[in-house]
Amino acid sequence: MLQRLYDWVDERVDITPLWRDIADHEVPEHVNPAHHFSAFVYCFGGLTFFITVIQILSGMFLTMYYVPDIENAWKSVYYLQREVAYGQIVRGMHHWGASLVIVMLFLHTLRVFFQGAYKKPRELNWVIGVLLFFVMLGLGFTGYLLPWDNKAYFATQVGLEIAAATPFIGDAIRTLLAGDPSIVGAQTLTRFFAIHVFFLPAALFGLMAFHFILIRKQGISGPL
Ligand code: HEM
Repeated sequence: MLQRLYDWVDERVDITPLWRDIADHEVPEHVNPAHHFSAFVYCFGGLTFFITVIQILSGMFLTMYYVPDIENAWKSVYYLQREVAYGQIVRGMHHWGASLVIVMLFLHTLRVFFQGAYKKPRELNWVIGVLLFFVMLGLGFTGYLLPWDNKAYFATQVGLEIAAATPFIGDAIRTLLAGDPSIVGAQTLTRFFAIHVFFLPAALFGLMAFHFILIRKQGISGPL
């Protein structure tokens, strides 16, 4: 049955070469922990990706209940947490995943750094990685405000003060993020929500695609 379905699609869109190109690569011995235990350090990029997928899926379910306005944001999170079936679990996954993904990202970056895997020809992928790092931090910063509790409110105020201390363009950055009149308020919440669920995820998808295409083109870096 499945084979017939596959053949039907394949006859029309020729998908075999596509997935063969993705799947037909041998894992080199030096990245296989079964051969060298220390090769486990190569898992951190994949784990970063795995948690990112969990963040996207859990986040999609959170938006079914979350209301991005200052009257209802906290109440909607409270309702999700206390009343909605599995709401506590989905929110918990998103909450803990947000921290864990930064840990994995950091370990991945350390692996690449200490193995010198950023050297020619992989400099561009390092730069893309740095952009990915900023996007991830941005997701953390904007997501933190969304529950609209005291901790979120004052942490965001501190974060915006830090951004405002940037030479020359600091005030402009704060106004762009916080809205006018540059204090954490109704506009800040809607902006942070838009940045958290549209702008940064869009950047994340593009950069991750670029990151993976380059890894496939260049192959994993050689043994030390
Ligand atoms: C969303 C964030 C990221 C994801 C999902 C990701 C994912 C991956 C994956 C799956 C690999 C294959 C090898 C491995 O897993 O170690 C890889 C390789 C690489 N990553 Fe990342 N990465 C991310 C962020 C970064 C950052 C922050 C940097 C550095 C600043 C970076 C630089 C590199 C480089 C240079 C390689 C090639 C390494 C080699 O060939 O040995 N990546 N990445």
